[in-house]
Amino acid sequence: MIIGIIGAMDEEVEILLKNIEIKTIDEKASMKFNSGKLWGNDVVVVRSGIGKVNAAVCAQILIDDYKADKIINVGVAGGMGEDIYPGDVVIADTLVQHDVDTSVFGDKLGQIPRLEVFDFKCDEDLIKLAKNACEKNTSCNSFVGRIVSGDQFIASIEKIEWLKDEFNAISCEMEGASIAHVCHLNHIPFVIIRSISDNASNGAHIDYQKFIPIAVKNSTNILKSMLESM
Ligand code: ADE
Repeated sequence: MIIGIIGAMDEEVEILLKNIEIKTIDEKASMKFNSGKLWGNDVVVVRSGIGKVNAAVCAQILIDDYKADKIINVGVAGGMGEDIYPGDVVIADTLVQHDVDTSVFGDKLGQIPRLEVFDFKCDEDLIKLAKNACEKNTSCNSFVGRIVSGDQFIASIEKIEWLKDEFNAISCEMEGASIAHVCHLNHIPFVIIRSISDNASNGAHIDYQKFIPIAVKNSTNILKSMLESM
């Protein structure tokens, strides 16, 4: 079984690349695909770049060229729940692309036009593994809920309120739902695990810089514990 592991930024894959026993590295679509063994599993680790298009291209290459059987996306995200703080872990159960809007045709906001589903559901077994990993790791709180993705860094109270009201989201980032979309089209099980770097509100970009290291550490620890139990 091959597990594709995607992080959008260097910071999000750094610890993974320090720990992987590399077999091959090849470059496609300006991304480096690092194949090898990580914490007992055959994996391909790749930094996709930021945003939905980069993440979608990356996921499709993992599926087509590396025959990934499952895909896990780790990294940081904005937290939108009252009690969600930097360093906390969010496991997606469903994902929606919040920047999709064909409402003029009567579609709900976030609905991919003419697709049979509204949201993308993470694999239940992978969610369970992630939850178990969170229970073992008592140093951070964890939440399961909807993550929304869009090609925007969210940094305003108004936008958060809208994302909560419209999508019932607990967290936002810029890749998860597009990876989910690709996995849905290809029938590949996936899960998105993020740790909070900021509260997506005014000044989020300042917190983001400050809390990235702890957020990356926490999401990576959850992934490590998951991989060790697979
Ligand atoms: N990733 C981390 N924080 C984010 C935010 N506030 N908006 C979008 N993506 C993020």
